[in-house]
Amino acid sequence: MDEDHVVLKDVWKVYRTGKVEWYALRGVNLNIKRNTFTAVVGPSGSGKSTLLNIIGCLDKPTRGSVLINNVDVGKLNGKKLADYRNYHMGFVFQSYNLLNYLTVFENVELPLVIKGVPSKERRELVSKMLELLGIKGMEYKRPLELSGGEQQRVAIARALINSPDLILADEPTGNLDSKNAQIVVDVFRKLVSEHGKTVLMVTHNIELIKYADVVIKMRDGNVVEVGSR
Ligand SMILES: Nc1ncnc2c1ncn2[C@@H]1O[C@H](COP(=O)(O)OP(=O)(O)OP(=O)(O)O)[C@@H](O)[C@H]1O
Ligand SMILES: [Mg+2]
Repeated sequence: MDEDHVVLKDVWKVYRTGKVEWYALRGVNLNIKRNTFTAVVGPSGSGKSTLLNIIGCLDKPTRGSVLINNVDVGKLNGKKLADYRNYHMGFVFQSYNLLNYLTVFENVELPLVIKGVPSKERRELVSKMLELLGIKGMEYKRPLELSGGEQQRVAIARALINSPDLILADEPTGNLDSKNAQIVVDVFRKLVSEHGKTVLMVTHNIELIKYADVVIKMRDGNVVEVGSR
């Protein structure tokens, strides 16, 4: 397959704080193919998180357009945008963002509850997802009773439960030791190679970029290099 999944056309992001303007993105053009694993690297402040948030429709560009599955997401608003995000994208962050008063099962189940999926179906879907991520048997634990790597796998399970085709991960291994970082990157690799997903991962860990198909280098709000591996 050689189909565009994400296309950015002349995307600018300017933050204004008082009279000061911050150019976080300066005319980014980018093309991400479906079913690829892309790593985004670059110095702190180069615009990696801004780029990911704009692709994930968590933030809007100041100028330019973002097309996902050929849909101009800048033209979606309110409920349409929220639905698009919920059904097409999965987010994974450095800090896991799990709810500690819920069990592992309940954390992963949550997006399905919100969607109104019946309980029997929810149980089956969650069970399959925990198996895929190698954390079956942990359903009744609470997130704080798990290792960092296990917590991040729960967060990935929750991000995937609505079967999004695009997974956006911002430094997902930032809080993990090398063994757990490897587990997470192996999961992403498998999601792309065996399950047809597209993964975009921001990382500071140069050890991990060898698992990606494409490496995007950012500097000063621009993509300065796109390398296929
Ligand atoms: N809400 C905001 N208001 C003002 N400036 C911002 C805001 N968010 C980000 N910036 C600025 O935009 C630039 C890009 O930030 P961004 O978070 O995208 O960098 P990053 O590449 O993800 O860095 P890091 O590796 O440290 O996470 C930085 O100079 C930052 O200070
Ligand atoms: Mg960042």
